[in-house]
Amino acid sequence: MLNMTKERDETKYDLFEIINNRRSIRKFLDKEVPEDVIEKILLAGIKAPFAYQICSVVYTKDKEKMKNLRRMGIYPTTNLFMVFFIDFNRMEKIVKERNYEYNFDDGLLLWLGVQDVSLVVENVVLAADALGLGSVLLGGAPMMADQISEVFNVPSKTFPVVGLCIGYPDPDHFMAVRPRFPLKHSAFKDEYKDLSKEEIKECMKAMDEGYITQGYYIKQNAKIPLQKGEDKIGFDKYSWTEHISRKITQGSWYKESLLNVLRRQRFDLE
Ligand SMILES: Cc1cc2nc3c(=O)[nH]c(=O)nc-3n(C[C@H](O)[C@H](O)[C@H](O)COP(=O)(O)O)c2cc1C
Repeated sequence: MLNMTKERDETKYDLFEIINNRRSIRKFLDKEVPEDVIEKILLAGIKAPFAYQICSVVYTKDKEKMKNLRRMGIYPTTNLFMVFFIDFNRMEKIVKERNYEYNFDDGLLLWLGVQDVSLVVENVVLAADALGLGSVLLGGAPMMADQISEVFNVPSKTFPVVGLCIGYPDPDHFMAVRPRFPLKHSAFKDEYKDLSKEEIKECMKAMDEGYITQGYYIKQNAKIPLQKGEDKIGFDKYSWTEHISRKITQGSWYKESLLNVLRRQRFDLE
């Protein structure tokens, strides 16, 4: 039974309502998130199921750190920024306390870490939403591991998976709930279904019509330029599948491979 206290009245607690209405927020009010709210959100985060409990989070509201992040090419859009790490530094110490020597496949460890971190992050995102906050993830964190480690004083064997901006949504910048692939094309009973050309087109239609109707890329003024040839697709026809196709076919946006960055953080991936 929910305890309907005054505090609870101020929040949304229907899980399905929270999940179904959540959307990434990209415009926020200049209003500070109090420490007790942050703690509540993070406590919800660490309640997620875990495989090895190799997730740590660092959060900051520090203006100087925000400035440093921006200088290094990381752009939090809120005055509360979190980074979620695969943390094997702590686990190495625990293992040592038990008088064992670390002996594990670092590649597997990283997968396990991504599993652990993902679950914590989703709990945090939903908890924030339940408390009337909004958020947007920043996926470039792994490629900025060196810079993030410097700003947050993070040791090796610890690797950033994703950044998260959390704040109070600006009500003047309404964001609609984004579409998804139809469930029948993304969840299969008993065996995997390799989609036909027709079904792929249905997936594309669901996404593209949704994004174009919302004017998603127009509102964000976000269009990836073509590397060669004339761009014949105007903003009115620029859709999600066009955007993601351009993203995936233009090569990595980063100078070096993720493997190199991981190796610098002392992960053995030979
Ligand atoms: C791992 C991950 C990384 C993301 N990185 C970014 C990012 O760098 N910048 C951004 O604006 N949105 C980012 N997003 C948000 C996605 O664009 C967004 O979740 C997706 O378009 C679906 O929209 P919705 O969250 O509103 O449902 C990221 C999402 C995920 C899951």
